[in-house]
Amino acid sequence: MKTLIKRLVETWGPSGREEAVRQLVQAEIEDHVDSMTISPMGGLHAIVNPGGGTKLMLAAHMDEIGIIISHIDQEGFTRFHPLGGVNLETCVGHRVRFEDGTMAVIGVEQRSERKKPPRLENLYLDFGVSSAQDCPVKVGDMGAFDRSFIALGDRLVAKSMDDRIGVAILIETLRQMKRPQHEVQFAFTVQEEVGLRGAGPAAFGLDPDLAIAVDVTLTGDTPRGVKMAVVLGGGPAIKVRDKRMISDPRIVDLMVSRAEEAGIPHQFEVLQRGSTDAAAIQLTRAGVPAGCLSIPCRYIHTPSEMVDMNDVEKAVNLLLEILSKSINI
Ligand code: CO
Ligand code: ZN
Repeated sequence: MKTLIKRLVETWGPSGREEAVRQLVQAEIEDHVDSMTISPMGGLHAIVNPGGGTKLMLAAHMDEIGIIISHIDQEGFTRFHPLGGVNLETCVGHRVRFEDGTMAVIGVEQRSERKKPPRLENLYLDFGVSSAQDCPVKVGDMGAFDRSFIALGDRLVAKSMDDRIGVAILIETLRQMKRPQHEVQFAFTVQEEVGLRGAGPAAFGLDPDLAIAVDVTLTGDTPRGVKMAVVLGGGPAIKVRDKRMISDPRIVDLMVSRAEEAGIPHQFEVLQRGSTDAAAIQLTRAGVPAGCLSIPCRYIHTPSEMVDMNDVEKAVNLLLEILSKSINI
């Protein structure tokens, strides 16, 4: 699974440009599903056992945070807007990759308030050129951050664990699961980082009876970190609430019961900032019972997002438990 994770996190796919990730996922799952379609917005929907009773949707987003070129000056320096919640504190000196492999580094202007984090208007991209004519990108081109995958023991670090780790968990679940009694809908969604835009239409099309998103969440286990009960390595976290949703208590209970029966360690997540595809799915059509299985992750939206492999494996185990038994909600 580590090899799969490395390939997924190193694939280029800022919000709205998920094609390369989608192709990788398609190739990994095509032998294991009954049908596979590409949604009008570019998401990938794979179904196992269509027509088989309860329709359970599992969702993970393929996109990662990135940038979009907004202006090019005469010296060939460009300005950019963030795609999603880019952390400006970690931008300076960072490298950005474009679809064709073009690279740039992020620089910062001289500022009077040097102790404060830079503001967006202070930052620029340097492509190593001296004129607008030589600048290899144009306004509207999108970039993603560039950083290779590393493993620190059981802890895996990459620029796009959010949410390629969720994508990897769905793929692994798909491969390991036995023929389910339910219709299981695997939705690899788009444009989550720019406001949960892909998941709602995906759920509208799939019309599930219940849904679980798999995404990352913050932890409270770093020096002077946020006061939060989630720790790395403590097992997957069952979301109870975040900024945009209250998880359906029936979905919370479903996850807790299956975890307890199988002796899978788990934690409860109450997140003050941020949300996931589950929030958008929940508000689709007449409403969908929805919840989220969260993977504890340090340093979210920085070049080095860190997860624990044990949490990842336990999340797969928990999803397999849910899929293998009857669901009455
Ligand atoms: Co995110
Ligand atoms: Zn995410």
